[in-house]
Amino acid sequence: LQHLLTTEGLPRAILNQILDTAESFVGVAEREVKKVPLLRGKTVCNIFFENSTRTRTTFEIAAKRLSADVITLNVSTSSQSKGETILDTVNNLTAMHADMFVVRHAESGAAHFIARHVAPHIHVINAGDGRHAHPTQGLLDVFTIRRYKPDMHNLRVAIIGDVLHSRVARSEIHALTTLGVPEVRVIAPKTLLPQHVEKLGVQVYHDMNEGLKDVDVVMMLRLQNERMNGALLPSAQEYFKCYGLTPEKLALAKPDAIVMHPGPMNRGVEIDSVVADGGQSVILPQVTYGIAVRMAVMSILAGNSE
Ligand code: CP
Repeated sequence: LQHLLTTEGLPRAILNQILDTAESFVGVAEREVKKVPLLRGKTVCNIFFENSTRTRTTFEIAAKRLSADVITLNVSTSSQSKGETILDTVNNLTAMHADMFVVRHAESGAAHFIARHVAPHIHVINAGDGRHAHPTQGLLDVFTIRRYKPDMHNLRVAIIGDVLHSRVARSEIHALTTLGVPEVRVIAPKTLLPQHVEKLGVQVYHDMNEGLKDVDVVMMLRLQNERMNGALLPSAQEYFKCYGLTPEKLALAKPDAIVMHPGPMNRGVEIDSVVADGGQSVILPQVTYGIAVRMAVMSILAGNSE
């Protein structure tokens, strides 16, 4: 693997290699082990053209726990504001001997564009491009599911909310279906689903009361207002009434169902605080496992370049 740009088309063997490698890093993610030397002498450069709390920070922690040197470019205070192109920024960081770029951008395809133009020894990881893909989020979500529900071949997963604008949902769906999860449901109003979404191998529901029945995993999504280009939105109250996860709606899922959310959460819009902070929520473990999964991705990419 040279770059990680999407989970679409990634073979099951590579997905399993990433998940199994991440398993070996859980102790480091949970601070039982301090550091490992796998990326000693390498420089990882985080370039985030779009805001982030979890992804940027966990990539930085993951790289440091692999003993890499880490640069996080603050794009708002970089020479981008003086008109420098993305490629000039990347080429200048390459001249500083960066080995790996972790890139987030509001435009779909940005990470692919950079990957096509970097020197052959450089690795690019997509940390979210527009509404297209967020592969490490998809992988950490699958990793979290596998940790709580190891029998992946006997699972019902429901993904609820703004699938249309969600790069996370796309990356999860590709990973879950490739790994052989037999039933992946999406639950959303028609206006928040991509056309022909069923071609991704999912079952489509518009009613939470039907779609949540007997599921093992409840994955909530945020309304991505920033990608709606002024489209008429439902009010937060209307949306919460139909698609917000409350204790009553969660009771339709299996009693041991887990509740997930990639963050950032909008409490009272897609999820009730009682559920977000409740006993079935694994939202914060998702973040910790994100460190292990990002360590796995970076170490696998670096290993391939030796
Ligand atoms: N899940 C996720 O991508 O969160 P951030 O936007 O905070 O990185």
